[in-house]
Amino acid sequence: MRKNIVAGNWKMNKTLQEGIELASEVKNMLTQTPECEVVLGVPFIHLAAIAALVKDSPIKVSAENCADEEQGAYTGEVSAAMVRSTGAEYVILGHSERRAYYHETCEILKKKTLLALKNNLKPIFCIGEVKQEREAGKQNEVVKEQLEGSLFNLLPEQFSNIVLAYEPVWAIGTGLTATPEQAQEMHAYIRSLIAAKYGQEIADNTSILYGGSCNAQNAASLFANPDVDGGLIGGAALKATDFKAIIDAR
Ligand code: 13P
Repeated sequence: MRKNIVAGNWKMNKTLQEGIELASEVKNMLTQTPECEVVLGVPFIHLAAIAALVKDSPIKVSAENCADEEQGAYTGEVSAAMVRSTGAEYVILGHSERRAYYHETCEILKKKTLLALKNNLKPIFCIGEVKQEREAGKQNEVVKEQLEGSLFNLLPEQFSNIVLAYEPVWAIGTGLTATPEQAQEMHAYIRSLIAAKYGQEIADNTSILYGGSCNAQNAASLFANPDVDGGLIGGAALKATDFKAIIDAR
């Protein structure tokens, strides 16, 4: 059966020293093995140090992106192989900030996903609609296109390594969380699309996380839904006590 996962996405926050401190705090707070997988999504330059720090703990490490090329003359890029070589096991792909500010298309994300899988990284693949699309009632159409455009080319055994994160863009960093009903409705819809493409067993085994203003106060009501398998946490992952409270809510 699918895993419950609580993953932090630090985005472009924390110096290396601050990041090490935060990861240490989270590690020290997990005195008992958590009931969910705990993942820290951290900037590239933090990966190796934090992967070493959490090595003998239940915490896994994720990059926030990787290149869409394998290797070579791509100044400033970081490949999936490089990410994997740090000890990271996950990579966040398709975050709405990457789609919006860095013009990452479905086609680019398809290439990144294939490279991540080839290098034994598990993608945490983000999908979700913007405010105008929700207001126009087009949210289902949008996530369906995002799945078909980047992931539904995968073979079933490849797709089995994907974690999905439904992140309605209007809820990210805004304090406007999706209601538990809105989250459940969309997660069930996403699972039905996976079932139609890959069959019920793979759909039932796919973890679908919710992201967007998820915090210590609302996490439990979001996670109580049958199709919400945890969260991808931005702002609230930057404080160890808040992040720990979200882990405990799962
Ligand atoms: P917030 O939790 O800050 O809304 O960010 C969510 C997010 O974008 C996680 O990837």
